[in-house]
Amino acid sequence: MKKWQRVGIVGAGTMGSGIAQVAAQAGREVVLVDASEEALERSERALSKVLARLVEKGRMTEEASQSIAQRIQRVANLDALSNCDVVIEAIVEDLDVKSTLFRQLEDLVTTETVLATNTSSLSVTALARACRHPERVLGLHFFNPAPLMALVEVVPALQTPTELAQHGVEEMAAWGKSPASAKDTPGFIVNRVARPFYSEGIRLLEEGVASVADIDASMRAQGFRMGPFELMDLIGHDVNYAVTSTVHQAFYGDSRYRPSHTQRQLVAANWLGRKTGRGFYQHNHAIGAATEGQVVEGVAERILSMLMNEAADAVFWQVASVEDIDLAMQKGVNYPKGLLAWADEWGIQELTNILDSFHQRYGEERYRVSPLLRDMARLGKTFY
Ligand code: NAI
Repeated sequence: MKKWQRVGIVGAGTMGSGIAQVAAQAGREVVLVDASEEALERSERALSKVLARLVEKGRMTEEASQSIAQRIQRVANLDALSNCDVVIEAIVEDLDVKSTLFRQLEDLVTTETVLATNTSSLSVTALARACRHPERVLGLHFFNPAPLMALVEVVPALQTPTELAQHGVEEMAAWGKSPASAKDTPGFIVNRVARPFYSEGIRLLEEGVASVADIDASMRAQGFRMGPFELMDLIGHDVNYAVTSTVHQAFYGDSRYRPSHTQRQLVAANWLGRKTGRGFYQHNHAIGAATEGQVVEGVAERILSMLMNEAADAVFWQVASVEDIDLAMQKGVNYPKGLLAWADEWGIQELTNILDSFHQRYGEERYRVSPLLRDMARLGKTFY
């Protein structure tokens, strides 16, 4: 398949701008389109700043930074995308708006042009359906900030042939990213497997087992850069709550993904985290300084065991391979270790015992052991 030399990107917001930088750094020609001139200007200013800082720190030569900047053309009109090898959309997260865009693009581009979406929560398959050539559609899910987070989830629609998905993986590797292949299922890998990091954290708080600061400290002690509450405050509760709700609905209300009342209340109060000055923490003082806290026994064990169970279940349901799931959590959300390698370290039997004890105590479906772990424990198997 053809190398993606000429790359179109629609949407010059947070993600589109970052993806443009990644592609230009990989030597590709980029056409960045946004309906808003203001967004285009903002994106140009942001990139100049980033490149200047890289040069200042000696991480890039002046010439390299100039050629990267020159490789990105910014325009307000879709017409400039006509001879692109791939067009990646990073516009609003709305199926109808994205579908309309893809139909407009199909009128402009050649039949060989790949149409990719950076959606994090919509069905790539439903978006492909909007196209006359659904077989050209591929999910390329970058993480924020795209130039820094190595992971790209490569998500073929039901209609996408294997060769295109494989080509997407090779292209992302050539762009210097770490691609992980995922089935087109709610949340793909990261936004599904990471749910317990937040939801178990909140449950521990709701049960009064430990405080916000103590739960965060307990997770930092395991090597996580941030605990669940610091991280939710950074992401924003509106965004985090929306992702949880979307995944929950997409799984037909599976109680394992149920959003929490506590987080809904934060959203209702407009305590959205850092961006509004208040979330689980007060942020009006030094940003990020919030958190002294004590490690509380049992906290990390509960959150980690639930994460491992979720990761194992994703393998069981063939969402992705063991290696890609471990890679995704390390390169997309900076987990200190792959969850499945970590489960091997704990021992699969030990992990099922821990989960069984929760299941027995709460009687809730969310704590049931993944059938895969159950089988592995019985057969004495490990993931690696
Ligand atoms: P954003 O709001 O920063 O940027 C979106 C840009 O698209 C805006 O500049 C807007 O003017 C432009 N736009 C909207 N409709 C358009 C149209 N029809 N034609 C041309 N331009 C249009 O949004 P952000 O955060 O960059 O997200 C973009 C996409 O990436 C969404 O689908 C989002 O779910 C996904 N995503 C976001 C992540 C994040 O952390 N922000 C992470 C991974 C995926």
